[in-house]
Amino acid sequence: MTKKILQRRDFLKTAAAVGTGLIILPGGVLSGRNAQSNKLNIGLIGAGGRGQQHWRALSDENIVALCDVDENALALAAKEFPNAKQYIDWRKCLDQSDLDAVVCCTTDFTHAFVANWAINRGLHVYCEKPLGITVEEVRTVRENYLRNRNKLATQHGTQRHAFPNFNRVRELIIDGAIGTLEAAHAFGNRQIPKPGYLPALGNPPDTFHFDLWLGPTPDHPYNPEYFGNHEANPGTNCLNWNMYWDFGVGQIGDMGAHTMDLAWNAIDADFPTSIEATGDPFNPEVTPVEMTAVLEHPANDWRPAIQVTWYQGGAMPENSMRYIDLDAIGHGVLFKGSRGFLAAGFQSRALIPFGDEADMTYYRPRSEDELIPDMGNFQKEWIDACKGDLKTSCDFEYGSEIIENMLLGLVAYRVGQKIDYDGTTGRITNIAEANDDRLMRRTYREGWTLDG
Ligand SMILES: NC(=O)c1ccc[n+]([C@@H]2O[C@H](COP(=O)([O-])OP(=O)(O)OC[C@H]3O[C@@H](n4cnc5c(N)ncnc54)[C@H](O)[C@@H]3O)[C@@H](O)[C@H]2O)c1
Repeated sequence: MTKKILQRRDFLKTAAAVGTGLIILPGGVLSGRNAQSNKLNIGLIGAGGRGQQHWRALSDENIVALCDVDENALALAAKEFPNAKQYIDWRKCLDQSDLDAVVCCTTDFTHAFVANWAINRGLHVYCEKPLGITVEEVRTVRENYLRNRNKLATQHGTQRHAFPNFNRVRELIIDGAIGTLEAAHAFGNRQIPKPGYLPALGNPPDTFHFDLWLGPTPDHPYNPEYFGNHEANPGTNCLNWNMYWDFGVGQIGDMGAHTMDLAWNAIDADFPTSIEATGDPFNPEVTPVEMTAVLEHPANDWRPAIQVTWYQGGAMPENSMRYIDLDAIGHGVLFKGSRGFLAAGFQSRALIPFGDEADMTYYRPRSEDELIPDMGNFQKEWIDACKGDLKTSCDFEYGSEIIENMLLGLVAYRVGQKIDYDGTTGRITNIAEANDDRLMRRTYREGWTLDG
């Protein structure tokens, strides 16, 4: 782990100074960085909704393929990128021979598929969060990425990572502004209760390929409520399906991925040794609204063992400082150290020295030239990495570890007991059945494979 941490730190310091020079894109084009021919050939999979929010960031590159199961979303995207070939099935899209890279904005339950198949075809990948919805899925994608990291650039879509506040929080924590780090409590207070899967209602319009939308996940009847904001509010329709077990992982895949990123960026952790979780009574159809998952993390080279806790849907960290309103932060992290607290939201932070020992003599603020450089635009970092040194801030190693930790919280919640975990093998070591289907992995509809 030490090696990985050092690599990451070195990278953070040098991220602003990515090298240029001649490069060969997967599509085979040899050219200089700023040459016209050095544009990436990108396929946008999930072209509407959140995909639409990537249009501008991608507009300087060649969008050569668009894929969407909704022909209306496809037609809208085609107006923006008229030269792109159009697909309704991402498997066919990935076989387009001139692709260099793909951006995946489909449903959470297809991310690991698209990402893994794309890596198998030698394509750079930007994938919206969460990278997968089971531990097996995120580990599969990570292992594939690690085998190909000398050829491919990946980025996990936690774009809030580009807020300078992420760097300021990291500096305060690793420089000891709150003393020795003891715990990181990440919390999100969004509540989207759903009673259960929706009943059959009507038929999908001719322009919507519902069977392809279901893809690998178990069969469910069509109901238009899963697609409420499909076109009206791009990027919000996920809230209509991501709370159901067969379609997502609730808060964890939603705001949780962003919020835990704020903690993760500052703690240099990888796999927990044990996980314990409590929450709403288990509903076999819908993920819990309220849940707390406590993950024990071993020491690393700059801090002792710490507890990392995820609170969602109303559960909140214990807070003795009444003058800090964590509810008002909404989605954030409370770091606890031996000499104080750091309460952080995505774009702001409050440092609270605490106790008689907290005189701040142990802390020296960085000079301006010692600050971690801004990463700049999040999508552009990935595009530049595809053409350059392949390094990104939220590559599939970093991103998958965040999601794996959070998914282990859900596994512990479902098991209802403390689970011990071996991050090297990806096995729960104290309860054999906890490694079973539906907990750590899931069965796919016939004809669908994660490794195609
Ligand atoms: N990073 C962020 O801040 C952020 C914000 C919003 C959404 N998201 C993520 O983006 C993803 C999409 O969310 P959304 O609200 O846009 O959902 P959505 O239901 O609107 O889907 C997005 C688009 O993908 C298409 N699509 C769905 N399944 C597909 C498939 N198998 N193949 C091809 N196209 C498919 C849909 O028709 C739609 O046009 C989710 O994973 C969500 O977590 C991320």
